[in-house]
Amino acid sequence: MRRGVLFGAAGAIAAVPSAALLVLLATGSAAPWPALAALAATVLAAFALGAVLARDLHHLAETLRHAALENPAATTEAAAAPLLAPVERVALAIERLARTLAARAAEVGRLLRANEAIIEALPDPLLVLGEDRKPRRANAAARAAFGADIPAVLRHPGMRSAIDRAFATGAPQTADLSVPVPVAREVHAAVILMDPPLPDGACAILVLSDRTRERAVERMRADFVANASHELRTPLAGLIGFIDTLLGPAADDVPAQRRFLAIMAEQAARMNRLIDDLLSLSRIELNEHLAPADRVDLGALAGRVVAGFGPVATARAMTLDLQVAENLPPTIADEDQIAQVLQNLIDNALKYGREGGRVQVAVAPAPTGGRWPSRPGVLLSIVDDGPGIPRQHVPRLTERFYRVDTGRSRKAGGTGLGLAIVKHIVSRHRGVLAMESEEGKGSTFSVWLPAQDK
Ligand SMILES: Nc1ncnc2c1ncn2[C@@H]1O[C@H](COP(=O)(O)OP(=O)(O)OP(=O)(O)O)[C@@H](O)[C@H]1O
Ligand SMILES: [Mg+2]
Repeated sequence: MRRGVLFGAAGAIAAVPSAALLVLLATGSAAPWPALAALAATVLAAFALGAVLARDLHHLAETLRHAALENPAATTEAAAAPLLAPVERVALAIERLARTLAARAAEVGRLLRANEAIIEALPDPLLVLGEDRKPRRANAAARAAFGADIPAVLRHPGMRSAIDRAFATGAPQTADLSVPVPVAREVHAAVILMDPPLPDGACAILVLSDRTRERAVERMRADFVANASHELRTPLAGLIGFIDTLLGPAADDVPAQRRFLAIMAEQAARMNRLIDDLLSLSRIELNEHLAPADRVDLGALAGRVVAGFGPVATARAMTLDLQVAENLPPTIADEDQIAQVLQNLIDNALKYGREGGRVQVAVAPAPTGGRWPSRPGVLLSIVDDGPGIPRQHVPRLTERFYRVDTGRSRKAGGTGLGLAIVKHIVSRHRGVLAMESEEGKGSTFSVWLPAQDK
């Protein structure tokens, strides 16, 4: 390549004077020896000049190549070699241009990173859609809230129709959705079209604001009023009746007063328990969409809860066993809430189990697959050998205030909220609650909780 340039340049420089000398020689106008010497000197000089030119052009090409690679330091090296003055000036200009371009590129990179950091730090989930309406980017909030379920969220009919409307009209569109995955939540979605599409192919942005908390508050207020008034009315009516009796017919009957006061105290305690349970259910519901964050030793926790039930089991002549497997995977959970799950399930097993029967509590690594999720998890199970629950009742047990045998539950001091609380806590933990029961044989309540991601 370089040799080609050398011969080309030398040929171009020497062509005209050599041709003139050859004409002079041929016509005899010049003495042969001096003319031949002049021809040789011309060719030599042309080659020397050609060599310098070839070298400089090579340097210039190198300088340009490094400039194109945005490597200004190397352009300086290339330009540092001794060059013909004009070539050197061109090389220096290229070097300066390369530096300016590199500085601009760095600045553009910094601005891009700043923009990305802003989007990433937005507290609301944000998705960027391409022309095919598939997600191209999701910010940290979107990844945390929906993770692998982003395509499912986009397939939601309400969301799809908002996206279609935005693409059809070009105007921003909104939608209020109930998204069932990964946990049920209420989402307000805003679709904003990018017209024309951005250079990276982004055609629309989608902002998903989580309204679960607001909606839960609204619903809870309505539920609370309805349930509480209904459930409180019975004991309250009893209390009013007894007060009337105490003020009237039983005003002077001290033994009757004692008896009535004892019943009134029990009714008041029941109202108190009911309010406590309703409040704790509301608190759990409020935070249900926020995953727990503490590492919990489920074996030790189960040990403490089971120990607390010792006297209750003894009072009903029941045996309460606990088995904790040794190789439990670590679990991220809310310790107080899991304690409440165990408490409610063991309380039920002791309350509705067979007098003199046996309750077995176990904590073990969950078998993967089958009825449990295929991810690693921990299984808490509470098994009793009581009368069991008729099949038709099982799916409804977790409804608020649902009781199979209302009289029996009431007598045992139950409010019918225990399993509703368990269900909401398990759902907050992204776990699974399973209930099996065989009439006459007993019931098994199992709670699958996900193990900590490695
Ligand atoms: N292990 C069990 N064996 C038989 N029936 C059960 C068992 N566990 C629950 N049940 C039935 O399910 C119903 C609902 O249970 P839940 O724990 O929600 O309410 P509760 O025990 O009545 O009241 P609370 O737990 O609020 O004191 C109970 O009333 C009972 O009829
Ligand atoms: Mg209960």
